[in-house]
Amino acid sequence: MPDDSLTVKDNRPGKTYEIPITDGTVRAIDFRQMKASEDDFGLMTYDPAFTNTASCRSEVTFIDGDVGILEYRGYPIEQLAEQSTYLETAFLILYGHLPNKQELEEWTHNITYHTMLHENIKKFVEGFRYDAHPMGMIVGTVGALSTFYPDARHIDDPESREMQTWRLIAKMPTLAAFCYRHNRGLPYVYPDNELTYAGNFLNMLWRMGETDYKPDPVLEKAINVLFILHADHEQNCSANAMRAVGSSKTDPYSATAAAAAALYGPLHGGANEEVIHMLTEIGDKKRIPEFVQKFKSGEGRLMGFGHRVYKNYDPRAKIIKRTAEEVLDLTGRNPLLDIAMELERIALEDEYFVSRKLYPNVDFYSGIIYQALGFPVEMFPVLFAIPRTAGWLAQWREMVVDPEQKIARPRQIYTGDRGLKYVPIGKR
Ligand code: SDX
Repeated sequence: MPDDSLTVKDNRPGKTYEIPITDGTVRAIDFRQMKASEDDFGLMTYDPAFTNTASCRSEVTFIDGDVGILEYRGYPIEQLAEQSTYLETAFLILYGHLPNKQELEEWTHNITYHTMLHENIKKFVEGFRYDAHPMGMIVGTVGALSTFYPDARHIDDPESREMQTWRLIAKMPTLAAFCYRHNRGLPYVYPDNELTYAGNFLNMLWRMGETDYKPDPVLEKAINVLFILHADHEQNCSANAMRAVGSSKTDPYSATAAAAAALYGPLHGGANEEVIHMLTEIGDKKRIPEFVQKFKSGEGRLMGFGHRVYKNYDPRAKIIKRTAEEVLDLTGRNPLLDIAMELERIALEDEYFVSRKLYPNVDFYSGIIYQALGFPVEMFPVLFAIPRTAGWLAQWREMVVDPEQKIARPRQIYTGDRGLKYVPIGKR
C-alpha cells in the first residue's frame, strides 16, 4: 500500500485495514467495511457541524486560516479589492478567469439588462409590515422569484443555469432596494441602465427628486470594495445550505432563499448587525473592560470576533478597517469606530481571546461603514447577501455538474427509544 494511507486496526474483530489518503483526507465510506459482527451496519464518521469534514472539491475560493489568506480563483483578495470591481470579481468567481474586455462588456450588458423585477414582486414587498426586517423580506421574495421563472427548474440545462445566474446577480440589488424603500415608506426607484452595478444600487436606494442621479464616487468605490470582500468564502454555512438544498435538484431561486436564510443568522451574516448593537450598548470606551469580562464568562459573545477557519486576522477585516477610515473621512467620525478599535486592542491583548485565536472577522468593522453610508442596521445582512449571491451561485454551479455529488443526506446516531407499544389515550 503506498505511503499515502492509514493502517487501521479494528480491535473488535482484530482486523486491520488499509485506508487510502487522498488530498489530505480519508473517505468516510472506507470505514463502512469495519464491522464488529456480520450484521453490523459498519462504522460511520461522526462530525457535528462538520468541523473536520470536507463536503466537496472546489476551485472557487482558497482560504489559509492559519496565515490569514483569502483568494478567489487564485487571486489574492487584497489585489481584487484594490484593482477590481464587484461585477468583474463576480465574473471571476463564476467563470474561473478574469474577463477580457469583450467578456466584461457582454457580462455587464447581460447583468444590466436583467435588473428589472416583475411588477407583481411589488405586491409581495407591500405585503410585509413597514417595519419588517429586510432580510426576512429578501428570503421571502427571492424564493418567490422561482414562481416567475419556471424554466429555472431545468437545472441540468446549462443555458437555464446561465440565465438564472444573470437574473439573480442582476435582481438582488433591485430587490434589496425595493425592501429598503418599503421600510422607509418611499416610492420605488427603478434601475438606471446608465449607471454601474454599484452606482445603480445607490440610485435605487437614495434617489429622491433628482432627474439624473449621480452616485458619489467615494461611496460607489466603498460599495465595490465591500461587495468584493463579501463575494464568496468557500464552504461557509450559507454556501453549505446552497449546496445541500440545491443537491435535491430544486431551482436556484429556492436554493438561494435557503442560503439567504442561513446567512441571516447572528452567528453568520447577521453578525454585522449584532456588532453595531454591541458597540452601541457598550457606548463608551470606559465600559469596554466590563463587557470583555462578560464575554469571557460566556455571557454573550464579542460579535464580529472569531471564525471557524481563520485562526489569524481575517484579511477582509484589515481591508474593511482601512476603508472605514477612508469613508469616515468623508462622512464624519463615527464614535463606534473608536470603541471598536479600542475593543479590538484590549481583546487582542487578553489571554482568553489570544488562546482561542479569536480575531476580528469580516463583520467586525463592516457595519461601521454601512452606518456611515447611511444604511439602517437591519439592512446590513442584506448588504452581505447581495454580493454573496455570486459565491452561492458559483458553489451551486460546481455542485450541479460534479459527478461525485448526489443528494445531501447525512446519517445519524440514534439515541431515542425503540419498540414501544402504543397506549390508548384513556390509559396514558
Ligand atoms: C461569518 O464560515 C465563514 O466563512 C463565515 C463568513 C463568510 O464569509 O461566510 O466568514 C462570515 O459568518 C463570520 C463570523 C460572524 N459571526 C460572528 O462574528 C459571531 C461571533 N463569533 C462566534 O460565534 C464564533 O466565533 C463563530 C460562530 C464565528 C465560530 O464558531 P466556532 O468555530 O464554532 O467556535 P466555537 O463557538 O466552538 O468557539 C470556540 C471557543 C469557545 O470557547 P470554549 O468553549 O473553548 O471555552 O471560542 C469561544 C467559544 O465560547 N468563542 C468566543 C467567540 N467566538 C468563539 N468567545 C467570545 N466571543 C466570540 N466571538
